[in-house]
Amino acid sequence: MNGTQIVITVLYSAVTLIGIVGLIAVLRTTSRSSRAKGREANIEKLHKGENWWALMSLAIVVVLFVATFFGIPWMNRAQADSTATVRALQFAFIIQPAQIPAGTVDFKVKSDDVSHGFGLYAPDGKLVKQIQIIPDVESTMTVKLDTPGTYKILCLEFCGVGHHNMVGQFEVTK
Ligand code: CUA
Repeated sequence: MNGTQIVITVLYSAVTLIGIVGLIAVLRTTSRSSRAKGREANIEKLHKGENWWALMSLAIVVVLFVATFFGIPWMNRAQADSTATVRALQFAFIIQPAQIPAGTVDFKVKSDDVSHGFGLYAPDGKLVKQIQIIPDVESTMTVKLDTPGTYKILCLEFCGVGHHNMVGQFEVTK
């Protein structure tokens, strides 16, 4: 497990524990045995409890909001260092420019004919990211490419007899 996974696991466990404790507390305060003692409802005490629950809910929402705010993807949208256009057609990819400086790249992807797949492979052959290419609709795939080298684009959607030959490539420079 890396650092992020440990943090997520700890946070998830903490939230689950809080949920279980909260559930037990609710079940205890509403159980028959506590009512069966014939006590009169203490309105003042209930009011206090209500305020406490409202405050707790607000605190949880605020904490979750603050903790996740900087993970919202739109924060990354403006950070692209360069833009490349990709036209997909039976059976090729036209990528412009052919050389892209290392950094965050916005790929503007569109198909001339049918549905294609856009699978981006790193120089070591690992799949980096993939999206669907839809006819006449421009999709944007943003990806951080830090390693210079030759990247390949493979079509990952069966699109006709030449599907297996549908390969493109571009260079990422320093
Ligand atoms: Cu294009 Cu398969």
